[in-house]
Order: sequence, then structure tokens, then C-alpha cells
Amino acid sequence: MIENFIHDIPTKYYFGKDVIKHLDEELRKYGNKILLAYGGGSIKRIGLYQKIIDILNTGNFEYTELSGIEPNPRIESVIEGVKLCREFKCDVILAVGGGSTIDCAKAIASGYYYDGDLWEMVKGPRSLKKSLPLIDILTLSATGSEFDGVGVISNLDTNEKMGNSYTYPRVSFCDPTYTFSVSDYQTAAGSFDIMSHVIEGYFSDSDDSDLADDIAESILRTVMKYTPVALSDSDDYVARANLMHCSSIACSGIPEYGKRKVPWPCHSMEHELSAYYDITHGAGLAILTPRWMRYILQKDAKTIKRFSRFARNVMGLMGEDSYDLSIRGIEAFEEYIRSTSLPMTLTELGIDDINFEKMALHANRNQKLKASYVPLDEKDIIEIYKMCI
Ligand code: NZQ
Ligand code: ZN
Repeated sequence: MIENFIHDIPTKYYFGKDVIKHLDEELRKYGNKILLAYGGGSIKRIGLYQKIIDILNTGNFEYTELSGIEPNPRIESVIEGVKLCREFKCDVILAVGGGSTIDCAKAIASGYYYDGDLWEMVKGPRSLKKSLPLIDILTLSATGSEFDGVGVISNLDTNEKMGNSYTYPRVSFCDPTYTFSVSDYQTAAGSFDIMSHVIEGYFSDSDDSDLADDIAESILRTVMKYTPVALSDSDDYVARANLMHCSSIACSGIPEYGKRKVPWPCHSMEHELSAYYDITHGAGLAILTPRWMRYILQKDAKTIKRFSRFARNVMGLMGEDSYDLSIRGIEAFEEYIRSTSLPMTLTELGIDDINFEKMALHANRNQKLKASYVPLDEKDIIEIYKMCI
């Protein structure tokens, strides 16, 4: 069975070295007054900030700045950004950074036109009609925020981290050289996030959408090939370029076209970890994903077919016994994660079981994980969290 799908990604996507030379012409299409949004300073350290300021000054753009957007961006930054945009009467937002900065900018873009409490907007069902135009310059390969409409915003007061769809970037500039400076930890975590975006949809009952499954497997193999290269030589252009390309496609929906849509269980469980403990998203996923794999393999024998395919096509293993192959595939996957030096347990991150029940309830709000490939309830989720200790 191949499900109907719609391809509708309106983002103009510039990829490669020096694509920033098109920034002036793209900004100009949307106006003259710009909110320049960025994170904690990495763009200054790599000289990108100065390059952008030079382009803005040479082009006689007017701009104001929102700096200090946090990893796991907070509602407070969204509120501040909306205020700045309204006061300055912004025409366009220019977000420069990783997924956190771009996500925050998306919520600001929609929040600009939102009449009401902005945290309610973040939590609410999407009823957002208008957004300011958003242009981004990506500096970390991970989330795919450069090529999707989603933003994820945190509220540390209520221990909630909520995704919503806001707006697609009008234009994304993806120059892999800007990712040379990404730390090993963020490189490994970001790469795992890319893989997770594919894995979440790949493990499903749909077996007939060959192209989707082949794209997914190819992304997984590519990320496993180039992450170690980027970790051993951070300036390897081919590695950084492949990871960036994978980042954008993995979360775009393309690897799931034609397949039955499933909720993303590892993402649901991870967002709770980030909401309570403010951990790096990709690191949380790397801990959860192999445990979730082992758990659903034991829970439902129908998964053997998929897991043995994963073992063959992604991990490159062979064997006659499908169950044995499935187990070895997960073990090889864990070995790969370990080789990237990511943490393998929650304990390493200082997390114990004290909040597991609350987290499981919230991860499964509205019973949403019932529609997973292998349906999960709160008990299942708590078991998976426990396996991560
Ligand atoms: O803040 P700065 O100084 O820029 O430093 C950042 C930050 O400390 C640093 N960094 C970024 N580019 C760099 C760099 N350091 C050196 N050189 C560079 N070129 O890396 C750290 C992490 O940045 P962040 O933006 O938080 O990482 P990432 O891109 O992984 O984004 C994570 C956020 O995106 C959400 C996650 O939940 C998390 O909140 N997600 C967004 C999604 C989406 N929009 O579709 C989907 C994902 O599943 C995910 O949930
Ligand atoms: Zn993710």
C-alpha cells in the first residue's frame, strides 16, 4: 500500500561554499528592516557575524539584533524577539545558527502576528495564518529546521518542550564550511538527530514505498560513513557537506513519502528529557533509540522483518536467522553510537528515575503513541526510560 502524499516545501535552498553572496539579493525581496537572530556567540567566533554585518551595511539595510538564543530555545527568547520585531517594525527575520536559533525565529515570525499569550501559541493547535518572512543561515547539521516548518520551544518553568508548525524559511543558506567549527559532541549529537529523523519513520508497517525506504537507508549509511570522518578531521568538506545535505532531507518528510504516518516515539520521549533536564536533543535520542529498538523487537514479532532489513541494508550484516540478525543489527548500531563518544546512559547525564512517570504521561498525551509502529502506553515508556539508566 502506498499512501497519498503532498510535496510542498516552499523553501529556496542554497547549498555550498560561499552561497552567502546571494544574501543581499534574497533579503531585498522581503524588505529593508531586519531582525538578526543568533545564539550564544559561535557565529562571532567563526567570523560569520562580521561577514553578515558587512553585507547588511553595504546594502544599506537597517537591522536590530536578538542574541543569546539558547540551545533548547526558551519561550522568553520568543517573547523578546516578538517585542523587538514589533518595536522595530521588522520586514524580515534573518536567523543564523543551528536548529535552536532557527526554531526560535520561526516562533517569533508567527508570534509577530499572534494576538494573545505566546506560550499558548506554542502549545496550541496551529491556527496561525501569517508569519514574517524568515531567512536562515545554517551553522549546524542536525535538525532539518532549515527545510521544514517546525519549531520546538521550551518552558523551563513548566517542564514542557513543545513542537508546533510555524512557517517554512523562505530561503535557507547552507554552507558546510560554517560547520567546521562545530564541537565533536555537537557533531555527533547532530548526526544522531539526523539519523533519528529517518529511523522514526522507517520503522513502520509500510513495506511498499521502496523509494522512501531506500532514501532512508541511504541517509543512515551516509551519516554513519561521514560522522567519523568529521570527528577525526573537523574541516573535511566532503564529510560536512554530506552531513548537511542529509540534515535537510532527513526531516523534510521526503523519507516518509508514501508510508503510513507514525508519531515519532523517540522524539516524544526525548523532548521530555530535554524539558526536565535541558540536555542536548541528539544525545538524548542516542540513548533512547537503541533501547526503544530492543523493547519493540521483544514486544512484537512483526518487527523482525524490519529489523532484519535494517541489519542487512543499513548495518551491512548477513545471516539466515532473521531474529538473530535483528539483534546483531541493534548491537552493531549501539557499537556505532559508542564509537562517536556520545553518552550511552541517562546516568552519565546525571538523570535518575524520579520523573519517569510524569514524563511518560506527557510524552503520551492524548494517547498519541498508540498509533506508533508498535503501540506504546505509559507503562511501556517507563520501561524504556528504565532501560536507559
Ligand atoms: O549558541 P551558539 O553559540 O551558536 O552555539 C551553539 C550551541 O551551543 C553551537 N553551535 C551551532 N553552530 C555552531 C556551534 N558551535 C560552533 N560552531 C558552529 N558552527 O551548538 C550548540 C547547539 O546548537 P543548537 O542550535 O541548539 O543545536 P541543534 O541544531 O541540534 O538544535 C537543537 C534544537 O532543535 C530542536 C531540538 O529539540 C532542539 O531544541 N529540533 C528541531 C526540529 C525542527 N525544527 O524540525 C526537529 C528536531 O527533531 C529537534 O526537536
Ligand atoms: Zn530531532
